[in-house]
Amino acid sequence: MRKWPVGWPRNSGNFRRRNKSRRARGEGPDGSGELALEFSKSYPTVASISEAALRGNFEVFRKHCGAAVKICPVVKANAYGHGVAIVAPVLAQAGADMFAVANIAEANELAEIVPAKEILVFGPVQGQSWASAEFAEALKSNYHLTIADMDGGQALAEAAKHVGVIGRVHIKVDTGMGRMGALPAAALELVRFVSSQGRTLRLEGLYTHFATADETDVSFAHEQLRCFNEFVRAGQDVGGQVGLIHAANSAALLGLQESHFTMVRPGISTYGYWPSSSFAKRFAEQGQAMGAMKVLEGLRPALRLESRIVLIKELPVGHTCGYGRTFRAQRPTRVGIVPVGYEDGYRRSFSNKTVMLIGRRPVPVIGRVSMDQTIVDLTDQPQVKTGDVVTVISEKREDPNSVEALAQTADTIAHEITCLLGRRIVRRAVADF
Ligand SMILES: Cc1ncc(COP(=O)(O)O)c(C=O)c1O
Repeated sequence: MRKWPVGWPRNSGNFRRRNKSRRARGEGPDGSGELALEFSKSYPTVASISEAALRGNFEVFRKHCGAAVKICPVVKANAYGHGVAIVAPVLAQAGADMFAVANIAEANELAEIVPAKEILVFGPVQGQSWASAEFAEALKSNYHLTIADMDGGQALAEAAKHVGVIGRVHIKVDTGMGRMGALPAAALELVRFVSSQGRTLRLEGLYTHFATADETDVSFAHEQLRCFNEFVRAGQDVGGQVGLIHAANSAALLGLQESHFTMVRPGISTYGYWPSSSFAKRFAEQGQAMGAMKVLEGLRPALRLESRIVLIKELPVGHTCGYGRTFRAQRPTRVGIVPVGYEDGYRRSFSNKTVMLIGRRPVPVIGRVSMDQTIVDLTDQPQVKTGDVVTVISEKREDPNSVEALAQTADTIAHEITCLLGRRIVRRAVADF
């Protein structure tokens, strides 16, 4: 029978627990002292997550929001692909007041990692769910649960009665996103309903979400803010104590001070990325006077993705590379194969359009990115040999293969680049880069 290599992490959580001491020393699983990419020779692809960057980003938020505002980092989707088992404990220690996730399965996973922390579930409680064991468990676990319609509210009250606990409720109001949340009039009804269910439900929060806070023109975000303020006032008139009031995603946290209320919910910037390219432009234009650009510059990307060259060969002039033969060698071409592909989240749309780094030197990606392999042109880097480390995604914002640069290449946002990082990539914590 084949054995797993020593230290092979079946998931990032196990890896973290089983290898704490080595990890703390920054060593590989073989204890070699080298920052190991040697979890597997055939798949030497590792995402390093900087604990110092995560802590630093959290400090930026804390300074910017002040001590009175609670900070609820959003760690859904495996902490935006960074590995929730690595990210959550660091942020908990840094002082996160609560964490937000998308659904109850994610809340259950998170509760094992940071058992002492409050958890907010964004996904709504649905009608009829009082009969579901999942919601019963969620109530027992004391999660903060979202409702966005009366069916959900009634179901939660039923479930709470059934389980014998008081459900902790956040009401989400749709102030213009047109996605999750009840329109203001219906949301106000929900406030009335929850406030009348003192034995089964407790109103712990009112919240909304911005559609355009990361854009150059934030006039609609201001309209949403006006609507939310009005709703909160009406809610307080109806319900008295409404609990936490929260609206700000990363863009609003950084750019719309008046949206902080009593709690903020930063996602993408927790991991060091700017909310969007247009947001950075807006800050660059308006920021000098306010010193706001300094806040953005305080953020540091927390992820570096590395692999190794597993094969090198010389191709003659005219030889083509990859599916569809989209690259043809115009000169004798030395190519290297990197065992990373679109299964890993390295997008097919990067084909022929981006670079990886070897040391600090860029090597062009040539031909189509395939499921498990990408080809790089090493002709101008004759010193490179099989086994050399390749930086697939750089943690330096200014590099041509940073998350943000790759997002631009793929015409998308940083969120999508990191969230799509595949399951088979090993995530490991490092003290810093
Ligand atoms: C309700 C809610 N709040 C906050 C966030 C965090 O947004 P961002 O990652 O842009 O900071 C999200 C992300 O999708 C969200 O859905």
